[in-house]
Amino acid sequence: NVVKGSIAMGLSMLLLSVVLAVIASNRITGHLAVVSKAAKEIAEGDFGKVITIKTGDEFEDLANAFNFMTEKIRGNIRELNNLIEELKKRDIQKTQFLANISHELRTPLTASIGYVDYMEKEKMGSLNPDQKHSLEIIRRNLERLNKEIHSLLLVSKYTLEGIKLNPEKIDISELIENIIKNFTPEVTLKGLVIKKSFAQKTLTGDKDNIRTVVENLMGNSIKFSAPATVITIATDIENKENQKYFKFKISNYGATIPEDQLRKIFEPFYQVDATTSRKYGGIGLGLSIAQNIIEAHQGKIWAESKDGLTTFYFFIPQGG
Ligand SMILES: Nc1ncnc2c1ncn2[C@@H]1O[C@H](COP(=O)(O)OP(=O)(O)OP(=O)(O)O)[C@@H](O)[C@H]1O
Ligand SMILES: [Mg+2]
Repeated sequence: NVVKGSIAMGLSMLLLSVVLAVIASNRITGHLAVVSKAAKEIAEGDFGKVITIKTGDEFEDLANAFNFMTEKIRGNIRELNNLIEELKKRDIQKTQFLANISHELRTPLTASIGYVDYMEKEKMGSLNPDQKHSLEIIRRNLERLNKEIHSLLLVSKYTLEGIKLNPEKIDISELIENIIKNFTPEVTLKGLVIKKSFAQKTLTGDKDNIRTVVENLMGNSIKFSAPATVITIATDIENKENQKYFKFKISNYGATIPEDQLRKIFEPFYQVDATTSRKYGGIGLGLSIAQNIIEAHQGKIWAESKDGLTTFYFFIPQGG
């Protein structure tokens, strides 16, 4: 009997411990589930989450620590948002400054170019060969400065105001021929040959802006060409899914643009060689301006470069 009694008591104690253990474990699982659900919601971006556990034990401490953490995160996010707003404001001020300064620089520059032009035409008396040569150098440098200031002005204007387009029918072959003619001195100096094929002769787009794009792409092709090589220019029309696209393509031989930089070169001021001792002039704005313009036309512009052959393409939709 004593043995039986002891066994019965032992069993009831065991049963009681199991029941207590199950209750405790359910309570723990319940609280943990609340915390883990809240953690998941926070991970998904709901930083306003507050958990309430009023047990007076470690669970309440855990909940408080959790709420303290989310409060801190909310504070940090507020600070970051304020910082972003401040940076945006400063970015606009900087662009505004760039626009103002480039505008201011253009006036005296235009006047100087005008005077050099006047003197070159010998309207202020005849010039000896040395004077002519010097004036020619002054003019070339002023024109280069003028071009870079014009790019700064364009980029800042487009950033601040966007691009307003005046689409019209453009004789693109004539426009390209005209641009090529203006580059004759550089082309001759480098001994380059330009091959053209105009399978498509017209394009609907904003003439001044399309001219800027072609000028920038052609300027790059000439600048980055190895001496005595060939530049190819081609236009075409492509039909894709009931939509016509005008296609422009320009290739040159020279340095290969590394694969990982083929997109970056379209960012403002990005240059593959950005050292101050670099070989080529320019400030890295031409392609960024070209991209702004092509995208304003709902088109696409990109580059490919392999084994020294670099090609730039752009597409512009031309309606159905
Ligand atoms: N045809 C090309 N061949 C090789 N690299 C090129 C070519 N075109 C552009 N790049 C690279 O892309 C960079 C950016 O070109 P982008 O026209 O924007 O600026 P840039 O010509 O250096 O200066 P800017 O156009 O303002 O005078 C160039 O500095 C060059 O590294
Ligand atoms: Mg350029």
